[in-house]
Amino acid sequence: MLTGTGHRSRGGRTSKLSPAAWLYVAAVVAAVAVLGQALDADPDLDGPVHQAWVMAVLALLFLICDSAPTTLASRQSAWSPSSSATLAAVVLVGPVGALVVGASSLLSVRRGLDLTQRVFNASMYGLSAWAAGEAYLALGGQVGHPSHQSFPGIIGPFAVAAVVQVSLNHGLLWGMLMLVPPAEPGQPAGALQRHLPMLFFSDLGYATLGLLIAALWSVGGAFAAILVLVPLFVARWAIGQFAAQERAYAATMAALCQAVETKDCYTRGHSERVSRGSAMIAREVGMRGRRVEAIRYAGMLHDVGKLGVPTTVLQKNGALSEEEYAAIQLHPMRGLAIVREIGFLDEALAGIMHHHERMDGRGYPMGLAGDEIPEFARVIAVADAFDAMTSNRSYRGARSIEEAIADLRKWSGTQFDPALVEAFVAALRREGWEQPQPAAMPPADSMAGQDHDDPTAPLRVVQSR
Ligand SMILES: [Fe+2]
Repeated sequence: MLTGTGHRSRGGRTSKLSPAAWLYVAAVVAAVAVLGQALDADPDLDGPVHQAWVMAVLALLFLICDSAPTTLASRQSAWSPSSSATLAAVVLVGPVGALVVGASSLLSVRRGLDLTQRVFNASMYGLSAWAAGEAYLALGGQVGHPSHQSFPGIIGPFAVAAVVQVSLNHGLLWGMLMLVPPAEPGQPAGALQRHLPMLFFSDLGYATLGLLIAALWSVGGAFAAILVLVPLFVARWAIGQFAAQERAYAATMAALCQAVETKDCYTRGHSERVSRGSAMIAREVGMRGRRVEAIRYAGMLHDVGKLGVPTTVLQKNGALSEEEYAAIQLHPMRGLAIVREIGFLDEALAGIMHHHERMDGRGYPMGLAGDEIPEFARVIAVADAFDAMTSNRSYRGARSIEEAIADLRKWSGTQFDPALVEAFVAALRREGWEQPQPAAMPPADSMAGQDHDDPTAPLRVVQSR
């Protein structure tokens, strides 16, 4: 199941909960507290002593899994194969017993979890396990040790119970993460959302081990729980490998951006903002899922080709020679060469390669016009120019957001795609825009040349004879 991690930022501070997040936590905890009242009334728990023994063993299995979750790429969430313990409880001891097993997460042996996070996790698990149990009963599932005659009839109610539990668990955690800001500034947002489908089906797959535990219990008793520990930890290891690969991927992106920003002092934070602006436009025009994620990465790395342009050219004050201008015009191609092997979607590569094309065909490197320009490139061009205009440059101050919008509209149709400009304006009006701090302005005498992204001050080129 998915769990919150209470991940701390590098500065050591945890994100403070907003009033909305507190309300959310309170609602989930209150729901479980109300259900907890049913403990006394549940006939399934009035049975012989072995019910308590089964619950204790399953709670221990749950705690073992929940105490060693594997951290996911977003670092604010983690995954463990604990769903099989609560689903085994659904079959063996019923909904309230499953609730108790899920709520045992309160005792999870994990560092970094504060009390709020523990109470939320325990309530989330308890609630989703109880709902799974109710769904199981509603569909005719029998509580107790499954026998030979229980199959195949038990499979349907159990499968629905697994879907209910996993859906509630993922939905409740996703809701919480939506209300909590990312712990790491600059962390690529949406990492959890991108992997939710994969984690959903993984959880469903490992949840079937719950039925296996329940079925084996009749034969091996508590040893059933011990037997499944091996496949459960193999599952944890596999998901952990995937998450580590994702983190390495994100770190590669961050390192490339850092390299570009180190080389060209103008671009501090520029890549991040172009990435954010591109995603805003993408969502506004109806892109979803992997395409939004791909354009986010493409926006982040759109100028990575600057690594292949001499620093003296990037930081040159005054007009450029034709050779120097040609070197700058080569940066989209160099960018493509650098990231080609990373495993991007083709659209993201096209976005990087063509982000300086213009609608009138006067851009570079290919001189494409109108719809010949890939959509990703047209999106990035708008976000790129907007951020360049609203950032300080040594030769001019930052334009206001309204001035920059007016400029985008002025060049709409000639330089920018009009539909994407209007989509960006609509997204800006709704979501706002955080301009870089004035302190980011480089001193006027620093080695900082003209910004090639700035449409208000195109690069000047000395014509050779
Ligand atoms: Fe560029």
